[in-house]
Amino acid sequence: MAAITKPVLKAVALCGSLRKASFNRGLIRAAMAICKESIEGIEIEYLEVEPLPMLNTDLETPPSGFPPVVELFRQKIRDSDCLLFASPEYNYSIAAPLKNAIDWASRPPNVFAGKAAAIMSAGGGFGGGLAQFHLRQVGVFLDLHFVNKPELRVKAFQPPLKFDENGDLIDQETYDILKQLLLSLKNLSLHLKSN
Ligand SMILES: Cc1cc2nc3c(=O)[nH]c(=O)nc-3n(C[C@H](O)[C@H](O)[C@H](O)COP(=O)(O)O)c2cc1C
Repeated sequence: MAAITKPVLKAVALCGSLRKASFNRGLIRAAMAICKESIEGIEIEYLEVEPLPMLNTDLETPPSGFPPVVELFRQKIRDSDCLLFASPEYNYSIAAPLKNAIDWASRPPNVFAGKAAAIMSAGGGFGGGLAQFHLRQVGVFLDLHFVNKPELRVKAFQPPLKFDENGDLIDQETYDILKQLLLSLKNLSLHLKSN
């Protein structure tokens, strides 16, 4: 008898930092490894936001044509089940590269609509919490459904050391919270899809 394979949820991960050794991208790598090694039924694809042009609606060709790189980006989000945002905090808000990517994906038809999303951040004293709040506010208009708990706000500049020189996560406590966040994202995504 053929084995019954359970469908795998597809998550798309976006990072707001373009820095090579970005801590926030390190969180995405850790999340991808956790899903591969110890969470069944969800896989993460990391999408780069750097190739996207700065948003300019003059680049759109009616009725709904976008530059090829934007169209591909939008397609990947449209085909996904849920989102994982790694959001650095710049001046108490969302980093510009991430906001630019979100704005492209929000253009009609908004490809985020109805999907589950989780946010993680690494930053200064509040661990990027203010950027997370702004992202949640933006998510209202995008019709995203955010995981509320656990909150993953990594205080990257306080001991113990959380990341190595390549930006790879080396802190077990953060790993554990990240795993819980991913489980919550999977559950919320399944819940939304079943309704
Ligand atoms: C323009 C700029 C503004 C920043 N503003 C904040 C801030 O408001 N709050 C904060 O916690 N960290 C702030 N930081 C520090 C970043 O959180 C820190 O550099 C972090 O490591 C960036 O994420 P990354 O490692 O993924 O690049 C700022 C950094 C830059 C470059």
